[in-house]
Amino acid sequence: MKKDITDINDIRLLVDTFYQSVIQDDVISYFFTRIVKLDFDQHLPTMYRFWETVLLKQASYQGNPVTKHLELHQKEPLKEYQFDRWIALWNATVDQYFEGKIANEAKQKADTMRQLMLAKIKFMDNPGAIQ
Ligand code: HEM
Repeated sequence: MKKDITDINDIRLLVDTFYQSVIQDDVISYFFTRIVKLDFDQHLPTMYRFWETVLLKQASYQGNPVTKHLELHQKEPLKEYQFDRWIALWNATVDQYFEGKIANEAKQKADTMRQLMLAKIKFMDNPGAIQ
């Protein structure tokens, strides 16, 4: 039986492992390596804070992920199938190490963010359309 996500060490393991898959992925890695030349020494701690805030109620993250991804979409279009890949990699990483209530929440919250980002992107591309 796997354990649930309970502390910051679990979050670090999750985020570090996830980004190892992301940067090797043929569908989405270029966003992180070419479109935005991310400094992972800064980005990973941002992601630890984001997930700690969402899952462990620590309120250490201050930022606006939706705006970040709308800006990214203006640099290089983000497609629905690329969000699907992001989610598949995230869910696989969660399942690799964890199970339980918070692990399920990690997958649900990511999917909620995916839906929100996609809705905003569609609206930005076509503000007149009925969603
Ligand atoms: C195709 C899907 C996605 C791609 C290619 C992508 C790519 C990126 C990139 C390149 C950044 C860095 C932006 C920058 O610093 O300028 C970023 C930041 C971030 N992403 Fe994503 N992302 C995707 C989906 C998601 C999803 C579904 C989530 C939901 C949890 C998410 C959460 C975040 C967060 C929290 C940040 C940090 C924002 C900040 O700096 O405050 N991303 N993403």
